[in-house]
Amino acid sequence: MDVVRTVGDLRARIGDWRGHGHGVGLVPTMGALHEGHLSLVRQSLAETNRTCVTLFVNPRQFGPGEDLSTYPRDEASDMEKVSKLGAHLLFAPTAEEMYPPGAATRVSVPGLGDELEGTHRPDFFTGVATVVAKLLLQALPDAAFFGEKDYQQLLVIRRMTADLDIPVTIRSGPTVREADGLALSSRNAYLTPGERAIAPALHRALIQVAEEVRAGGDPAAACKEATGRILEAGFQKVDYVEARDAATFKPIADASNPSRVLAAAWLGRARLIDNLAI
Ligand code: PAJ
Repeated sequence: MDVVRTVGDLRARIGDWRGHGHGVGLVPTMGALHEGHLSLVRQSLAETNRTCVTLFVNPRQFGPGEDLSTYPRDEASDMEKVSKLGAHLLFAPTAEEMYPPGAATRVSVPGLGDELEGTHRPDFFTGVATVVAKLLLQALPDAAFFGEKDYQQLLVIRRMTADLDIPVTIRSGPTVREADGLALSSRNAYLTPGERAIAPALHRALIQVAEEVRAGGDPAAACKEATGRILEAGFQKVDYVEARDAATFKPIADASNPSRVLAAAWLGRARLIDNLAI
């Protein structure tokens, strides 16, 4: 597997693949790779001829006071993991390569990007949409792969790609979980052993909401009960538990259309997010 660090080198490699008629898959990540990321790499390898993984801790999607400086980084181990799977290229640019002096343009997705995660992390989705738009335009893959773990992010990326007519198919993969239900996340590394034991309560609370709403229960009431259960389990703060339409992201009154329950909550230093199909 080759590693490139500039947009020019990335384009040269992908141009070479295109010249040989290969279909190209892109898997954007911020590194500290775990099975969740690797499942997307496998999906790309299965669906395309050539897979490029990107590794970039994007400063624009971290707010002031968030964990940019402490975000887990281990490039050597990431490189080994994706190389072992058979990925063909790793694009690991510097912040200066992605945002040279004077870089000013931002891509924002008002509406969808202002809700739930957007309420609690005001610049987050603009940072994500900007970097993903850049990565898609730099690489111009046939398909790019994103996890349902970050469900609202997936919808924002689909909206942005459609609105900007970026000719890339956005594919998604299911959330990979630990045996006890905790969704894999690079930020789980922040949990102490005591907190790690509490953490699966978030997933359990979402299962209960999904079951209650499927059985005809009121979504708002089910989400409120879930908030109580998450706090009782030992989380310090719940940012939201909400049931939304899976496509429009509007609040739902019942389970008549495909929908999703989504939550974010604080456990020690870690802000955990998760979601589930209802
Ligand atoms: P990161 O958190 O590193 O995640 C990279 C990709 O892996 C995302 O598409 C995310 O949804 C997916 N992922 C994370 N945990 C997962 C899990 N447990 N199961 C399945 N997929 C999982 O999300 C980002 O980076 C950034 O916002 C990025 C899109 C790279 C833009 O900077």
